[in-house]
Amino acid sequence: MSKEKKLRRVPDAVYRIDIWFFKFFDLFSNPRQLLKKIPLKEGMTIVDYGCGIGRYTLPVAELVGSKGKVFAVDIQPLAIKTVKEKVAKQGLTNIETILVDSYNTGIQDSGIDIVLLIDTLHMVEDCDALFQEIYRILKQDGFIFMDKGHLKMSRAREIVESTDLFTIVECWSREMLAAPKTKQ
Ligand SMILES: C[S@@+](CC[C@H](N)C(=O)[O-])C[C@H]1O[C@@H](n2cnc3c(N)ncnc32)[C@H](O)[C@@H]1O
Repeated sequence: MSKEKKLRRVPDAVYRIDIWFFKFFDLFSNPRQLLKKIPLKEGMTIVDYGCGIGRYTLPVAELVGSKGKVFAVDIQPLAIKTVKEKVAKQGLTNIETILVDSYNTGIQDSGIDIVLLIDTLHMVEDCDALFQEIYRILKQDGFIFMDKGHLKMSRAREIVESTDLFTIVECWSREMLAAPKTKQ
């Protein structure tokens, strides 16, 4: 499957159910807790891949500060619209949204410090294309922080290792941090 193969979107009506689920879920959980595991620093450039309604995008934008930047990437127009509305409401200036329809984000080569891939892996149809794109946009000393989504952790690890593009440097029960192998 090529990077340009068009991705399938769900209808807005279906996606709205996801949005309500996350709003309800966040009454009992705090997305900021997970961010403590990520080596985020002020001034970093981050990609929130599969950003959804920005549950991580906005807290990360606060943590990297005005000298940093977050690209919020999603295939769902309603997700991107929701993030844009939150950004406008909070007056944040360091978030750029990207509505993708393929595995090409259009982000420049080797400019990203950390890619987040949270609760998204299980939805990805072509993991090779996704990880090639993540590898392309990450700096040599960058990281991908991801969780297993709805997969088993062993399967998530297998997917990452089979790309031969990343080395897993830290692993928790549901998440892992991986570094890109040496770029040519
Ligand atoms: C379950 S949601 C999680 C959203 C967010 N990461 C969170 O944890 O709150 C997964 C998101 O990934 C998006 N997604 C799925 N496949 C994608 C792809 N290939 N590229 C970009 N976004 C994708 C979906 O549209 C959805 O918004």
